Amino acid sequence: MKQLSKKQLIALGKLHWLCLVKFVFYGGAAGGGKSWLGCFWLMTMCWRFPGTRWFIGRDSLKDTRESVLITWGKVAKEYGFTEWKYADNEIKFANGSAVVFLDLSFYPQKDPMFERLGSKEYTGGWIEEAGEVHFAAFDTLKSRVGRHMNTEYGIVPKILVTANPKKNWLYTTFWKPFRNKCLDKAYAFIRALYQDNPFLSADYIDNMRQITDKVKRERLLHGNFDYDDNPNALCDYDSIVSMFGGNIVKPTGKYYLTADIARLGSDKAVIMVWDGFRVVDMVEFDVSKTTELQHAINTLRYKYTIPSDRCIADEDGVGGGVVDNCGILGFVNNSSALPHPDSGVEEPYANLQAQCAYKLADMVNKRLISIDDCVDIPADTKDDIITEIEQIQTWKMDDDNAKIRIKPKSEVKADIGRSPDYRDTLLMRMYFVYREHEPQDLEGVF
Ligand SMILES: Nc1ncnc2c1ncn2[C@@H]1O[C@H](COP(=O)(O)OP(=O)(O)OP(=O)(O)O)[C@@H](O)[C@H]1O
Ligand SMILES: [Mg+2]
Repeated sequence: MKQLSKKQLIALGKLHWLCLVKFVFYGGAAGGGKSWLGCFWLMTMCWRFPGTRWFIGRDSLKDTRESVLITWGKVAKEYGFTEWKYADNEIKFANGSAVVFLDLSFYPQKDPMFERLGSKEYTGGWIEEAGEVHFAAFDTLKSRVGRHMNTEYGIVPKILVTANPKKNWLYTTFWKPFRNKCLDKAYAFIRALYQDNPFLSADYIDNMRQITDKVKRERLLHGNFDYDDNPNALCDYDSIVSMFGGNIVKPTGKYYLTADIARLGSDKAVIMVWDGFRVVDMVEFDVSKTTELQHAINTLRYKYTIPSDRCIADEDGVGGGVVDNCGILGFVNNSSALPHPDSGVEEPYANLQAQCAYKLADMVNKRLISIDDCVDIPADTKDDIITEIEQIQTWKMDDDNAKIRIKPKSEVKADIGRSPDYRDTLLMRMYFVYREHEPQDLEGVF
């Protein structure tokens, strides 16, 4: 009989019912034995603890039936385990335990917060291919485990998460804190590459080695979380990283200020000062009063001598008051796109925010923007900025005549678990590319 790989055994240690870790992310590359581990863990738990109730969730039931159920059958056969049967999206055990297949598809209109899971009760469960699953599903399921016979058996409620690298909540919740050695005690990340799986067939290994696409190789073979293969992303990763010290952007001596004002203390507030297209200063507030923000804006204006018509702040929500009190320009995300500065021709964007986001992406790719070393950015913030710029993505353009849109903020929040405040502060600088009262040097910008 085949055993388990070293990495699978480490994961099982974290998944042990007495271990205090609650959320275990296993994998982060292709072929590391993720699906096998998930099936093995649930099979042994169900068998050992009669009457318990578990889930396997994926972005679609069909995928669960077509892939997980197959692996489940193989694992059961391998260990000669026969006391189970499958019916109606549920694996039932002879001892009364059950594994329910959950549909974790995202219905933005019908059920954006996964309230349909709200009344369910499980002992624990597994989210398979979690890169395709929304953060809200994970977040809701966290509170649905530990509710079925955990106390009777003393089982610590747990969720196993398996996935390939993905720049979404997996990155922010597991990978980044793991890499920065600050992962919370309730979380664990076990990285398993295909080389860690001694049971792979020669064909599988051969197929993996045939992958020539750089992004795919980085993600699937090397488990590199910094590469994403989202075809809708507007900026490439290397260009984004190049903003931090890689790009040579001329100083112009002409300063601008852009500010994203937190709404009701829920988001971060960010203020950036620009010399041309170089960010030379940045201030941020986690929870802020508008008076503090106004004070910060005024102080930076004096420090860098920035006239009011080169300062702009997000005017939605409480930002409106800051704009009025500071006497600066207001940026209204949903207002109409501006005409091209030279030709005066209208640009086909759904709104000002989409227009500025596209322009920002274009300038990032042309390496025309830099965030100076003198801006003392912690590694964490740098990662956050990169993640947010990667979230500038095209959005449903099925209709040929539809105006150009970007991925809506609600979707970005669902993917990365927070509002893209740095991105918003950066994109407001583009307003002045379209509308400035004085002549400016736009060489290479259009
Ligand atoms: N402990 C094990 N014993 C026997 N075979 C195993 C074991 N773990 C994994 N395998 C085999 O290795 C191969 C890959 O494992 P698995 O499908 O679990 O990996 P994965 O990480 O889910 O891969 P993918 O990225 O393709 O989804 C499968 O053929 C599986 O049967
Ligand atoms: Mg798998």
